[in-house]
Amino acid sequence: MHTIPLPQTDLAPSVLCLGGVPLGSVLDEQQSFAVLDAFVAQGGTFLDTAKVYADWLPGERSISEKTIGRWLQARGQRERLVIATKGAHPELATMHKPRMTRKEIVADLEQSLRNLQTDVIDLYWLHRDDPQTPVAAILATLEEQVRAGKIRAYGCSNWRAGRIAEAQAYARTQGRPGFVADQMLWSLAAVPQAALPDPTMAAMGSALFDLHAASGLPAIPYASQANGYFQRAAADTLAGMNEGSRRLYDTPENRRRSQAVQALAAETGRSISAIVLGYLLGQPFPVLPIVGCRTVAQVEDSCRAAAQSLSAAEIAFVDGRAGR
Ligand SMILES: NC(=O)c1ccc[n+]([C@@H]2O[C@H](COP(=O)([O-])OP(=O)(O)OC[C@H]3O[C@@H](n4cnc5c(N)ncnc54)[C@H](OP(=O)(O)O)[C@@H]3O)[C@@H](O)[C@H]2O)c1
Repeated sequence: MHTIPLPQTDLAPSVLCLGGVPLGSVLDEQQSFAVLDAFVAQGGTFLDTAKVYADWLPGERSISEKTIGRWLQARGQRERLVIATKGAHPELATMHKPRMTRKEIVADLEQSLRNLQTDVIDLYWLHRDDPQTPVAAILATLEEQVRAGKIRAYGCSNWRAGRIAEAQAYARTQGRPGFVADQMLWSLAAVPQAALPDPTMAAMGSALFDLHAASGLPAIPYASQANGYFQRAAADTLAGMNEGSRRLYDTPENRRRSQAVQALAAETGRSISAIVLGYLLGQPFPVLPIVGCRTVAQVEDSCRAAAQSLSAAEIAFVDGRAGR
């Protein structure tokens, strides 16, 4: 799998990033290690997790980070990998109450370092925003962590375009890169912001897209395969899809997009995953999709797709802006 340098950093992760939500929870430790090993065997070097994964399930807290930490110890290849994790997520019971003070960010980061059994986080994400906290205060805390050698670079997740622009403008006045990447919900599926089950999530929309296109800021989208919607629609297995995901993705617009995906797959001989991920990989700025693979077979299928991007005409065909 090829790598993509993140501008203004010394990081060059694999173009696909493996999502950490199921590690240690939905998947037991042995299954988690098998998925991680399979990803590395395919050339993957980029892992995404968060302190809060998967605390909404019963069991040990931060089990995803802890599982990755044990896997890193067992395999001994920390230096080859780009480890990304996230902090500053609200408490799950009080999602409306931001946690964005210096004290909260530093406490989360210290806990993540311990969970991951590492001295430094390569890419540290703010999991959410608090629009009431000035960007200068937030960036000051993150810069302090860079200077202390605890993080190499930082990015934002689920931030609105206006706040990202504000943070980047402030960083420029300090002669610093600011956010080196942005993590939002984005895939070939149409998902209006208003349809999201959690209003603190941010979906790719026109303002955010324009910001990325104008600045070249890399996008590292989550739910990049629409939770398997297009693969399931093509295989006629939508009935087995998780209820919440099906409600979000199985809309008339996405059924139409699915028909276009299947037509393009038949015409070009590409897999459904190659078209779904190729849609993101063909965009006019760097995109490194986070894939949420649950099995080794899914890891291998998604990684095979990483070499292929759609042309601008193919992108316009599958998202319905042009015929073929
Ligand atoms: N920043 C944030 O707020 C945020 C929010 C959510 C997620 N994330 C990150 O993004 C990661 C990925 O999110 P996601 O799980 O929603 O991503 P996703 O890749 O869109 O969805 C994962 C699901 O897609 C299906 N799938 C994966 N690979 C497949 C393949 N090759 N063929 C067919 N189906 C396939 C599987 O469904 P089945 O299980 O039904 O087989 C899998 O559970 C998370 O683990 C996390 O690291 C971040």
